[in-house]
This record gives sequence, C-alpha cells and structure tokens, in this order.
Amino acid sequence: MCATWSPDSWRGKPIQQVPVYNDEAALQAVEADLAKNPPLVFAGEARKLRQSLGEVAEGRAFLLQGGDCAESFAEFSANNIRDTFKVMLQMAVVLTFGSACPVVKVGRMAGQFAKPRSAPTEKQGDVELPSYRGDIINAIGFDTQSREPDPGRMMQAYNQASATLNLLRAFAQGGFANLHEVHRWNLDFVADSPQGERYQALADRLDESLQFMAACGLTSARVPQIAETEFYTSHEALLLWYEEALTRQDSLTGDWYDCSAHMLWIGDRTRQQDSAHVEFLRGVHNPIGMKCGPSSDPDELLRMIDTLNPRNDAGRLTLISRMGHDQVEEKLAPLVRAVAREGRKVVWSCDPMHGNTIKADSGYKTRPFDRILKEVEGFFAVHRAEGTHAGGVHFEMTGQDVTECIGGAQAITDDDLSARYHTHCDPRLNGAQALELAFRIAEALKAERDRAAPLAQAS
Ligand code: PEP
Ligand code: CO
Repeated sequence: MCATWSPDSWRGKPIQQVPVYNDEAALQAVEADLAKNPPLVFAGEARKLRQSLGEVAEGRAFLLQGGDCAESFAEFSANNIRDTFKVMLQMAVVLTFGSACPVVKVGRMAGQFAKPRSAPTEKQGDVELPSYRGDIINAIGFDTQSREPDPGRMMQAYNQASATLNLLRAFAQGGFANLHEVHRWNLDFVADSPQGERYQALADRLDESLQFMAACGLTSARVPQIAETEFYTSHEALLLWYEEALTRQDSLTGDWYDCSAHMLWIGDRTRQQDSAHVEFLRGVHNPIGMKCGPSSDPDELLRMIDTLNPRNDAGRLTLISRMGHDQVEEKLAPLVRAVAREGRKVVWSCDPMHGNTIKADSGYKTRPFDRILKEVEGFFAVHRAEGTHAGGVHFEMTGQDVTECIGGAQAITDDDLSARYHTHCDPRLNGAQALELAFRIAEALKAERDRAAPLAQAS
C-alpha cells in the first residue's frame, strides 16, 4: 500500500456504496465548482483535533461524537443545529465531571449527508427504484425523479454544511457554551426527568464545584475556557467526488487535508483493504475513524492499521466498534487485545446504535434504549478486562424531542413511535435519552477512575 497517493488515486480502486451519475458532464461541472469554493475547515484545526484525540488514545481524555444519522435539507434550521449542539454540551459537562478529564466534542454535523444502504434498490409493491442514499445524492420521495442521483445536490450540501459550521463556531465561541448556562440546563433536566433523582447527586456535586470555582475567582469573565468551548465536525467520507473536491494541500506543511470536516470516517460496509474509501482516507492527514462491525477480524484489523496509521501516531485513528448489545464482549475483546499486544495507538470508541437496530411491530425501524445502554456497558467491561481505555462514544442523536428509539426514562413505546418520527435514515436518541445515557456513562467513568486510584479514594 505504499504506492503514490493523490487526492484522486481512489478512482482506480474498487468502490462500493456510491451512486451512478448518468450525466458525467454535470458531475464534472459540480466537482470543478466545489474545488473553487473555500475549504470548510482549516488544516490547523484538524491537527488540533488530532492532538486532542492523541490524549484520548493515551487515556487522558474522552471522546463524545454525535449527531444525526443523516442530515437533511428539509430539517435544516438554526433551532435544530442549536438544540443538538446544546445537548452535546450538556452531555460533555456530565461526562467531564464523571471522568475528571477533558471531553473532546465532535458533531456528526455540517456534512453528514451520504448514506450506505443495505440494498441498491427499494421495492414498493411492483415498483422498484434506486435506494435513497442521503440528500447529498438523491431525494427521499419514492418516485423516479426523486431517486435519480443529482450531482447538483453536492453544492447544496456544501452550502448547508458551510452555514451549519458558521453557526456552530458562533455558538462555541460567542457565549452560548458558557459552562454555567450548560449546567443550569442540566439541573432543569434532572428536575424534570422521571428518573432525575438518580442523577441528583452528580448534579449537586457539579453545582458545588462550580460555586467553589467562582468563589476562587474562576469566572467566565476571567477564564475564557468557562465561556467558550471547542467543537469539531465529522462525517462518513462516503461520497468521494465531494471529498476529493474539498481536499486541499496545506500551505504550512504541504500535507493534504480533506477540508470538508475536521474528522472523517470509513463505514463498516466500505472498509475493505484496497477499497477506494480506504485508499482515499489513507492519504489525508485529518484524524480519521473506521467502523468495526462483528465481521472484523484481528489480523485484518492490524493490517488495516498499518495502512491507515503506519507511523503509529496517537490520535490519527479512532476505531468505532458497533457490534450489537449481545455480541460486544465476544467480538470486541479479541480486537482490543490484538491492538494492545501489538502496541498500536488508537482511540477506541463505542457506537451502540448501528448494531442494535430492529424493526418494531409497528413497522418502524427503532433501537431499544436498554440495548444501547447494554452495548456501552459491554464496551466498558471489555476495556476494564483488557486494561485499556474506553476512549469514547458515538451516538446518533438530536436535540429535538423525537420518538424514534424506544425506552429510556420517558418510556417511549412502539405505539409512540409514529408521533414524532422524523429521521431521514436511522432512529436517533432524543435530547432526554441522550442526556440520560451521558449520566449513566459518567457513573461508569467515575467507577473506572476510582478503580484506577484506590489509594486516593481511601485517603
Ligand atoms: C452510520 O454511522 O450512519 C453508519 C452507516 O454506520 P456503519 O457504517 O457502522 O453501519
Ligand atoms: Co446511521
């Protein structure tokens, strides 16, 4: 795999899960247009994220990655962006307190449009049409025109990503992310949640800590870290025409960066050695992720690590395991063990969503909250047993009060799903469910911390 890499070297490799564009001239025109547009992120920011993820790989920080399964043109609004950002901050505060270490926040936002599908076509009655592949490719309506891949959609996705990122930067730096505000929102959640008592103790301790800090003069007026935050973007690098057009050579280092987002990942269905997607991502210097499903094999994984992170840089590669609640312990342990044995530095993150999707009796695709929680617990158990760091979590979630995943303190049932089922692809945790999970994970992180420092505990 040492052959020369270039932003378009993926074009010579076998590729899966991408559309067939029938109008080659239209495709080329959009690619040229995108290539003229400014990058969405700056290489220096991607390097900074890579450094922060290096801290996660070394066990000194925790990764929180989350957002939509698929962003859509229809659901694009300032309120949606604000509410997802808000819930991620709430979760991050809770997790920071539980783990007593920095939490690196990465949104599945500002570019998470393209979707791999289980079948290339969809059949309804006697009609068979190309599958919906995300708004950056085609439209969700079940008619011939909607399902025709349209390269012009890449431009609309770029513009939406650009506006989203602009607002996220404003929220992160402009005062919205003030720690005291975020904490106040959490207190509201604890007061209103049916299981709030369970989280009261943690919220109280956090409250006391903030009051203590303020008494010491550590206020947002004096300490910028209290008023601001760092927030990064990420998506699956699936639609390689789009990714290539936004790949730029950094003027400071001469290295290539995919400037469509800070972090990009390879999906579980496109991670074959020598595939176009692996070829593309091996050459960009962003921090990258790779999903690891139940078919992952330890030797194959080590070969892939050689390809994607040949210099064994901590922070370059995040392995996102998505095994399913009933398989996580059995399937993940051999991978973690092999990676640790070979001294490979990676971030291990847990995606408890994609292995736990079921079809409810009502016909909706859903994910039971209990199974999501169980996979996270299994993930922590594996790392505890192997002596490695449970580095992070990866959620499909929204700040909206949707009814897509069943269970949680709100006890959403199959009958409730139809009330507010808005996702364009997979079912997402709603704000309350996501925050509830964060409280549960914070408890696990605190337990991990107490085990690591028994003397400090006892004294
Ligand atoms: C996703 O993250 O939306 C996704 C499709 O995941 P996976 O590649 O793990 O199936
Ligand atoms: Co998904």
